[in-house]
Amino acid sequence: MALLTLSQIHKTFEKGTVNENHVLRGLDLEVNQGDFISIIGGNGAGKSTLLNSISGAVTIDEGDILLEGQSIRKTAVSQRAKDISRVFQDPRMGTATNLTIEENMAIAYLRGKKRHLFKKAVTDKDREIFKAALAELDLGLENRLKTDAAFLSGGQRQALTLAMATLVRPKLLLLDEHTAALDPKTSEMVMRLTKKIVEEQGLTTLMITHNMEHAITYGNRLVMLYHGKIVVDISGEEKKNLTVAQLMDLFHKNSGQALTDDALVLG
Ligand SMILES: Nc1ncnc2c1ncn2[C@@H]1O[C@H](COP(=O)(O)OP(=O)(O)O)[C@@H](O)[C@H]1O
Ligand SMILES: [Mg+2]
Repeated sequence: MALLTLSQIHKTFEKGTVNENHVLRGLDLEVNQGDFISIIGGNGAGKSTLLNSISGAVTIDEGDILLEGQSIRKTAVSQRAKDISRVFQDPRMGTATNLTIEENMAIAYLRGKKRHLFKKAVTDKDREIFKAALAELDLGLENRLKTDAAFLSGGQRQALTLAMATLVRPKLLLLDEHTAALDPKTSEMVMRLTKKIVEEQGLTTLMITHNMEHAITYGNRLVMLYHGKIVVDISGEEKKNLTVAQLMDLFHKNSGQALTDDALVLG
């Protein structure tokens, strides 16, 4: 059984207005347990809307979404968040900057727990768990538990957000251009961390990226979105052997768009 099944998903924004926008157009996708899927596609192709539909931030108009065979189409965002973690592009989105690193970790630790009573007092036992997860990042954050998240750099914050998203193992990890706002070197660092965490926990992951190299290098599968549908789905050896030039060519063939950088790069 697939971990996640999307069948015939449709989403139209601003229905019945002049701005009506049919974004997802009968999208089908089966995600297997342990899949690490890179998602690419031009600006406005519907990539973020796809992840938002899975997380519940967007309510779909038609179709169904099954997680482990159960429909989550009508499940509230907060309920879905017990199984589904997200990391966004903006480093400011993932952490609470008025809280310390350990307080942020404490919030993350509540995910999936029955009681959502946030207590600022962190126990020594909790602290050991947080430290172990932070040490994985190799940024020394485990020694800065009392530091406000506000004092962290963008890369450190994205790393912290990753640690928070995976502190309680999610069934599904959704990454929406989570390195796009970082400088190239920091972006590579966060990608390496992503790979490490995903592999160690065996996480099923959907990662939107505007970086063709990353799309090819990371993950076992690559899908391309065009006009709200998946037009390319490559995995295994075929994906491993793919070059950026071939990928650009595939994009060109499937979108009929001019082969400009903008077409792909502006996720
Ligand atoms: N909440 C929303 N309300 C109205 N329009 C939206 C909303 N979210 C996305 N859109 C529109 O849907 C289209 C697809 O957006 P998006 O999924 O963010 O594309 P991508 O992530 O592939 O660049 C865009 O035209 C965008 O403006
Ligand atoms: Mg997007």
